[in-house]
Amino acid sequence: MDKVNKIIDKYKGKKSALIGILQDIQTEYNYLPKEALIHLSKSLDVSLIRIYGIATFYKSFSLKPRGKHLISVCLGTACHVRGAVRVLEKVERSLNIKPGQTTKNLMFTLETVNCLGACALGPLMVVDGKYFGKMASAKVDKILKAYKDNEENLRGKRGQATF
Ligand code: FES
Repeated sequence: MDKVNKIIDKYKGKKSALIGILQDIQTEYNYLPKEALIHLSKSLDVSLIRIYGIATFYKSFSLKPRGKHLISVCLGTACHVRGAVRVLEKVERSLNIKPGQTTKNLMFTLETVNCLGACALGPLMVVDGKYFGKMASAKVDKILKAYKDNEENLRGKRGQATF
């Protein structure tokens, strides 16, 4: 709980900073771990029910582990008629997850959305806020591979740094 304590200290343990503290915990873990929320409840003397109320109210918070990379496939009408379902099915097959799920290695979380306001680019897939327009199922693996390779490169660099 050291990391959580540091976050609480950053906000001087103020109950009024609860949302900010939750945002920092979410940033640290990519979700809100149950143990962290219990610890927070005790440390701030705020009921767990209140904390869960906030955590479930805001869509940006997640109570389930989330992947490092968030993939959103748009299923809005414009994207749908241009083949968004085929793109989604390809992502599902490639990662072996369904919307709302996260890969076991916590690298990817998949979700569907309804129109991102860029219909002319449809079918649209977004990864960590980066738009991939005119998507086709044939492009999916190349994009996923770029994110996987990038992770491996980062791991490689971290590994080298320790020697
Ligand atoms: S329907 Fe997909 S961006 Fe609008």
